[in-house]
Amino acid sequence: MVSRKPFVGGNWKMNLHTSEAHALARAVANSCNTPAVDVAVFPAFPYLVEVSTVLQGQPNPGVLLGAQDFYPAANGAFTGEVSLSMLQDHGVAAVLVGHSERRHIIGEPETLINDKVQAGLEAGMEVILCIGEKLEQREAGKTDAINAAQLAYGLAGVKPEQMARLTVAYEPVWAIGTGKTATPQDAQAAHAACREVIASLFNGKIAQSTRIQYGGSVKGSNAAELFAQPDIDGGLIGGASLKSDEFLTIVQAAAARSEKG
Ligand code: PGA
Repeated sequence: MVSRKPFVGGNWKMNLHTSEAHALARAVANSCNTPAVDVAVFPAFPYLVEVSTVLQGQPNPGVLLGAQDFYPAANGAFTGEVSLSMLQDHGVAAVLVGHSERRHIIGEPETLINDKVQAGLEAGMEVILCIGEKLEQREAGKTDAINAAQLAYGLAGVKPEQMARLTVAYEPVWAIGTGKTATPQDAQAAHAACREVIASLFNGKIAQSTRIQYGGSVKGSNAAELFAQPDIDGGLIGGASLKSDEFLTIVQAAAARSEKG
């Protein structure tokens, strides 16, 4: 069996201001720092510098600093946008791409998502590609087809050797921020199907070593049973990542799986 190190990300979305971001980053850096799990936090842009300062000087392995978005051009006339090198200037090492809120609220198309995946990987970042079906798509039995299509679009042009820095986050849209979670069995089935798609796009070895996080109303109380599933390699956490004790419980659930696996 291939052992994949669990990866837990805290997506703070458009929440928290300076003092809260500072306090949460300190708490996460102090308590969630374990070699058994890769941990990242994704603050809003104005607080990246603040959080970066807090995370600097942590012992290894440290909590990774992530950004929720970026624009895939090196520089230039892109009003309001932020480049990868600007983020790297502040110690950002991970980026989210294709989050459902950007796909469905902001309206990001697959072409831009793919450009971002390729640019993030070319820049040496850890890239988390988020995919997942809407409720009506699940009810129509299209979950696996939607995930397969989003993986094929998102990963087009990615080189096999870059897949070591690519994590997939399967986040059913109907489970994000709603308190509704996929059952561990349903989530496992979707993850296993995603792994098969990655095998068909690349090869079986890459599919076995690619981490697939689950996201959508993960909490301290349901993380352990989700992460116990063989193809669920940690989680992308929204609401529950804003509370350090909840987030720590989730990281500990991922660490327990890592020790078992
Ligand atoms: P949630 O968000 O945990 O609040 O459901 C997850 C996500 O959007 O990544």
